[in-house]
Amino acid sequence: METAVRTHAMLCGGTGCMASGTNKVKASLEEEFRKKGIDDEAKVVLSGCNGFCAKGPVMAVYPDETFYQDITPDETFYQDITPEDVPALVEEHFLKGRPYQKLAFKEHDKKIAIPSIHDIPFFKHQVLVVLKNKGLIDPERIEDYITMDGYKALSRALTLMKPEEIVKIVTDSGLRGRGGAGFPTGKKWELGLKIKSDEKYVICNGDEGDPGAFMDRSVMESDPHSVIEGMILCGVATESHKGYIYVRAEYPLAVKRLQIAIDQCYESGLLGSNILGTGFAFDLEIYQGAGAFVCGEATALMRSIEGKRGMPRPKLWRSAVKGLWDRPTILNNVETLANIPQIILNGAGWYRTLGTEESAGTKVFALTGDIHNVGLVEVPMDTSLRKIIFDIGGGIPKKKRKFKAVQLGGPSGGCIPEEFLDIPVTYEAIRQSGAIVGSGGMVVMDDSTCMVNTAKFFLDFTADESCGKCVPCRIGT
Ligand SMILES: Cc1cc2nc3c(=O)[nH]c(=O)nc-3n(C[C@H](O)[C@H](O)[C@H](O)COP(=O)(O)O)c2cc1C
Ligand code: FES
Repeated sequence: METAVRTHAMLCGGTGCMASGTNKVKASLEEEFRKKGIDDEAKVVLSGCNGFCAKGPVMAVYPDETFYQDITPDETFYQDITPEDVPALVEEHFLKGRPYQKLAFKEHDKKIAIPSIHDIPFFKHQVLVVLKNKGLIDPERIEDYITMDGYKALSRALTLMKPEEIVKIVTDSGLRGRGGAGFPTGKKWELGLKIKSDEKYVICNGDEGDPGAFMDRSVMESDPHSVIEGMILCGVATESHKGYIYVRAEYPLAVKRLQIAIDQCYESGLLGSNILGTGFAFDLEIYQGAGAFVCGEATALMRSIEGKRGMPRPKLWRSAVKGLWDRPTILNNVETLANIPQIILNGAGWYRTLGTEESAGTKVFALTGDIHNVGLVEVPMDTSLRKIIFDIGGGIPKKKRKFKAVQLGGPSGGCIPEEFLDIPVTYEAIRQSGAIVGSGGMVVMDDSTCMVNTAKFFLDFTADESCGKCVPCRIGT
């Protein structure tokens, strides 16, 4: 007799996996569940990006009741799924209760399957704060976010905390802006609260133009409510009542999911004129940018929202004093804002247990280039580059090739050679190496990479002598 498990097939619905065929796999899974008569007990859910984009379409199954070598994998992870694989996958995992080894993760030099997500090196060395809900929720359902303690920080802040207390927690946490410059977030908010004005704005910067970077896209796609909650909290803390999320138009899935999330918030009383019945008002809308790299710069971004040409202007005063339409404006990056609900819920002391004195918390990196495990990685800021590139990233793919450098910080950053691989990814240490942490794009290059063209690519020169083979040329095409 067939036995079935009561479980969720959390199939990745991020942009990368969608491009690799998620929709066809979803249709095959649902069809197979129906055929086997287990469609009441096994449900396919489209989650956000799970981080392991190069292996897509990927899927995590939980709760998990399979057994593998006398252990329960807890949450089985499958990669490179095709519609043709689905009948065997359903038979093995969902009916016979054992992981389907063909699609389980295997390290590049070994053939042994690692079915549990918690044992896979790419995942097990990560510490998730901003990405804590990745792969676990349907980003288009507010109920899923609420189940994971979503909007708890907001309700606490609105009912129990004064704006000054919220600002103090953010200041004490040591959170620094994740958009590139690492400016202390609490300091920005403090200034925003002190300035009195009949109109103040909160802006979320989701422009994300750095080469190789896709952290912010992934957060907006996979957990849009965490960004929205961070923005409303910023509004409460700085007594601002209007917010804009600036997203580049090339991120259609992020725009779609953010809009669904905003609509759900209005329907649930989490946005509008009387949030959670407290009398606090906050309105939020999306502004789509046209994809100009320069519009990620704060003053150019604000000009763009004003309907003007997106050009930076001299910073004679801080945006928190005079920003959008010359009104006080608190502008933060997507990842910065997604940290806020966790900091309010768990406290500044908890956040400071991660990272270092000057670089508290975690940082999300988009690991790309000549590396085995391409994807999104969240680590405490005292983690070394070597650990990220070799333990999490799995090292350089080509056997005869060696690590040459890692590009960090986009056009304002630099290439870090092997001698600096043991430094942690803190603002202070990376700065000393000559690069900057930047927004989180991390492009690894092996020793076949032409550094001349690397410089040309990142400095936006014309690569007229390009042979087209190295990483910068490949990314650029
Ligand atoms: C040319 C240029 C491009 C930038 N692009 C981005 C971007 O895409 N996203 C971002 O958050 N910050 C970007 N920044 C930094 C922003 O100006 C700003 O400092 C940041 O969004 C503030 O948020 P944070 O304090 O939370 O980091 C850019 C800066 C420059 C100079
Ligand atoms: S898009 Fe699926 S893992 Fe990133």
